[in-house]
Amino acid sequence: TTETEHTLRTPIVAVLGHVDHGKTSLLDRIRGSAVTAGESGAITQHIGATAVPLDVISDIAGELVDPTDFDLPGLLFIDTPGHHSFSTLRSRGGALADIAILVVDVNDGFQPQTLEAIDILKRTQTPFIVAANKIDTVPGWNPNENQPVQQTMDAQSERVTSDLNEKLYELIGELSDNGFSADMYWRVQNFQANIGVVPVSAETGEGIPDLLTVMMGLSQRYMKEEMEIDASGPGVGTVLEVKDTQGFGTTLDAIIYDGTIHKDDTIVVGGLQGPIVTDVRALLRPRPLEEIRTEQQFEQVDAVAAADGVKIAAPDLDDAIAGAPIRVLRDRDRAEVIAEVEEE
Ligand code: GTP
Ligand code: MG
Repeated sequence: TTETEHTLRTPIVAVLGHVDHGKTSLLDRIRGSAVTAGESGAITQHIGATAVPLDVISDIAGELVDPTDFDLPGLLFIDTPGHHSFSTLRSRGGALADIAILVVDVNDGFQPQTLEAIDILKRTQTPFIVAANKIDTVPGWNPNENQPVQQTMDAQSERVTSDLNEKLYELIGELSDNGFSADMYWRVQNFQANIGVVPVSAETGEGIPDLLTVMMGLSQRYMKEEMEIDASGPGVGTVLEVKDTQGFGTTLDAIIYDGTIHKDDTIVVGGLQGPIVTDVRALLRPRPLEEIRTEQQFEQVDAVAAADGVKIAAPDLDDAIAGAPIRVLRDRDRAEVIAEVEEE
């Protein structure tokens, strides 16, 4: 009925790493909001999704990014919890991702959940870069808010620079021990063969222009073909979380990674007792740059196109399972779609 409409979707970026290494703080810095403060016990217990459009990335990255070099619409970040007990949430985030940022505290180095994240990335063959976070904690650090990392490193004393370099080379060594050839990102030519290390501070914003530039460049260069979707096709996604939303009963926090989901669409969702077939009653979106996890004020929309996070309200979702597939039925064969969901 509708014409095929080839568009480039937003790449999905998982942010992984050991507890307290600064995943949420990095996204906060990018969002310019303070989700960390609102978290119970300051540990991330759920997966969140944050869409950052290209113009925002280009504003933050400044001279490092020329937006006309890119035709991907931005980046969709998925925050994951680092606490050891949330291993399934981490692998869910890792499996959904097109690319990933592995956050490592430069002082702490590789820790158990860093290694676990590396295993997930290996298993899912997800290309990633390493954000060597908390560079501002090197004793004697002279902070330069939001500066690209080479600029701020040039502004440090020789002592501070050599301390930081020592920590960074330890990280590069640990990556090598785990089978990855790695180097400082500005020396990496082929990001598929080598892992780039980006020194950053979520506290001061130093290196964040570089981090966004590298993620955007990596997506544009290696992911572009995979990002080509038929945006008018029936939506396909994954359930991140099943939860109650006031006024809507049981809802799904979901990531749509192909096609479009419309209000009133019939969807098939994986459930405890087998696939659930139901009709979308409402699609709820956080405001731009807000976090699906902490946002209280949602706006109702008629449709959501990939890739994006959305809260889906529909009857009969009590048995839906986090991690399960979501398929919009549209004009597809009902039995076929149900079989697909059942299989997954
Ligand atoms: P989990 O979600 O529990 O796995 O932790 P996380 O990786 O999201 O860490 P979070 O962002 O909550 O940060 C943990 C602590 O480190 C907080 O107190 C942050 O303020 C602090 N922190 C994070 N990044 C930096 C940084 O770059 N510099 C400094 N000085 N502190 C940081
Ligand atoms: Mg967190």
